[in-house]
Amino acid sequence: MERVISSEQSHFDDSFEQSLRPQTLKQYIGQETVKDNLSIFIQAAKGRNESLDHVLLYGPPGLGKTTLATVIANEMDVNVKMTSGPAIERPGDLAAVVSSLEPGDVLFIDEIHRLNRAIEEVLYPAMEDFCLDIVVGKGPSAKSIRLDLPPFTLIGATTRAGSLSAPLRDRFGVPLRLEYYEEGPLKEIVIRSASLFDVTIDENAAVEIARRSRGTPRIANRLLRRVRDYAQVRGDGNITMSIAKEALEMLRVDSHGLDNIDHKLLISMIERFRGGPVGIDTIAASIGEESVTIEDVYEPYLLQIGFIQRTPRGRIATGLAYEHFGYQAPEQTN
Ligand code: ADE
Repeated sequence: MERVISSEQSHFDDSFEQSLRPQTLKQYIGQETVKDNLSIFIQAAKGRNESLDHVLLYGPPGLGKTTLATVIANEMDVNVKMTSGPAIERPGDLAAVVSSLEPGDVLFIDEIHRLNRAIEEVLYPAMEDFCLDIVVGKGPSAKSIRLDLPPFTLIGATTRAGSLSAPLRDRFGVPLRLEYYEEGPLKEIVIRSASLFDVTIDENAAVEIARRSRGTPRIANRLLRRVRDYAQVRGDGNITMSIAKEALEMLRVDSHGLDNIDHKLLISMIERFRGGPVGIDTIAASIGEESVTIEDVYEPYLLQIGFIQRTPRGRIATGLAYEHFGYQAPEQTN
């Protein structure tokens, strides 16, 4: 039970990250379409005194899926229980979580694409009819018992909606895709976080951090913390443009927010594979990273900024990537 339910996840157990999280839709910056939709569905469900329909949040990591789940629960005035796909190993684990829910509560399952099939089967009737069929005992004395559950809202989060089985995906009434943040909203997030840290930051310094954060609030807040350290040690504690630039330089975050691994990946594609097409597993092996990490974490942003393209024959480094690293682009990649 303890193992299954946790109020935090490992990559979020930094109390800073917690303290920066917005609590309401109004405090939540960016993702306007998602917020507009949610605010209608939340108001409607509350007006009818019903639980909110199940919500699927998908998109690249670090864009605020967990935060949004907490915001939804706050807006609905209900509790949220948090767990993740890999943490639910047996049907009994799921039974333990859902049977502790109160009417209207939110159950948040992160990395929902990693639930195993047996659990999914138990989840379907729980989502659809708010009941749980579980088998107790073994062999000839095994019995199936049905437990009634209170109405609840399942919020599933995933970086790979495509890996969800169709029957599971179809059971979410509200699928919402989170997009990379534009520079404007990211800058607002940096300014908001700086004020929560009680540090002064110049607007152009906030823009500079936003610009190098790969459209991702989690990265923006991480960079802000490091720049704050730098300002404290090398400056007077205030974050100015020159302090921000020096700190980001020291952190080896380039003008597009690309880090060491992005560099290795792109340069390997360009130098060893002549810009591709090259398969993801080959790229991964060439730089010593796992394919899934590249697919989930690095590639989406490189695709977004047009540095790589996916083709049926593999990935291609585009002319923009060549240009960024000062290489002459071969004819066919332009
Ligand atoms: N901190 C992290 N993400 C945020 C967001 N979307 N709005 C406000 N603060 C945040």
